[in-house]
Amino acid sequence: MAVNKRVGGFERRPRWTPVGQAALRRQWISQHHMMRDVKDDMGNAVDDALQKAAGLLAAAQRVTVLTGAGISTDSGIPDFRGPNGIWTLDPAAQRLFTLRDYLADPWVRREAWRIRRGHAAWTARPNSAHYALVELEAAGKLRALITQNIDGLHQMAGSNEDLVIEVHGSLYEVECVSCGARTAMSDTLERVAAGEEDPACLRCGGILKAGTISFGQPLDPAVLAAAERAAIDCDLFLAVGTSLTVQPVSGLVTTSVRHAAKLVLISAEATSYDELATLRLREPIGTVLPELVTRALAQALPES
Ligand SMILES: NC(=O)c1ccc[n+]([C@@H]2O[C@H](COP(=O)([O-])OP(=O)(O)OC[C@H]3O[C@@H](n4cnc5c(N)ncnc54)[C@H](O)[C@@H]3O)[C@@H](O)[C@H]2O)c1
Ligand SMILES: [Zn+2]
Repeated sequence: MAVNKRVGGFERRPRWTPVGQAALRRQWISQHHMMRDVKDDMGNAVDDALQKAAGLLAAAQRVTVLTGAGISTDSGIPDFRGPNGIWTLDPAAQRLFTLRDYLADPWVRREAWRIRRGHAAWTARPNSAHYALVELEAAGKLRALITQNIDGLHQMAGSNEDLVIEVHGSLYEVECVSCGARTAMSDTLERVAAGEEDPACLRCGGILKAGTISFGQPLDPAVLAAAERAAIDCDLFLAVGTSLTVQPVSGLVTTSVRHAAKLVLISAEATSYDELATLRLREPIGTVLPELVTRALAQALPES
């Protein structure tokens, strides 16, 4: 899908050799088997909901997944609104993500560059939930993987870049707000490390920001349209680790249900879309998503 190449195919994104990926998948599988033992302690009600969700996933043929920050907390990247979320702990931090403040206030930009330089994404690795979605794709069930995340962990786990739709952009890119030039984040971070606290565009002198969508900034219409098509064209919509508070992405949930998809929500906290859900799972994503995929794929295997 051409719209994703803009972000997913970016040359500075870390590349993983097939050998490296296979090793990570093996690590995932052995971790997962440990998790299955832990899961035996879950209560019957949880197990029942999980089994029903696995039945829905086994029966589905075109699954569109929407992920949010909650899928990456196990990789060490804090979310915004969970109990240890960036804004939960420091509500004032929202200014750093608001376009108007970023453009108006050099202090906000300096602070944003300082934080980008030390961002947890640079050392984070995918976790069991990211790998579970690779397994779902390998089983031929994945229609699209829409992510609000900017951390690149789905691609690093091995998800097909053509299926990943990064609706809020990528931290691996830098964008000039004046001329629109797109460059590698690593190049700009080298300038920050060398002492430029608020580096300007080398082409036009304009303000640089991360290639991510700030509050007050519209989404790329082509990327949003691709996400909408995926929400319409699925029989199961699976939302994972998102508070569903950021529009227009959260509206994709309604779109999918209106087009007769079943809806499964996996997240610790309630959302304002819960009533639309066929099923809700509130357990830790790193445990419940791999278990869900494993059970669904076992059910979906043809009888021998
Ligand atoms: N990793 C990232 O790339 C990252 C991190 C922070 C914020 N963001 C950006 O911020 C916006 C935040 O919106 P959002 O809805 O994605 O996130 P959010 O912070 O609003 O909500 C995350 C939800 O996931 C739940 N959660 C967190 N860890 C969990 C776990 N291990 N198990 C079960 N539930 C868990 C939280 O309780 C919360 O309800 C997005 O637009 C995204 O672009 C991205
Ligand atoms: Zn420029």
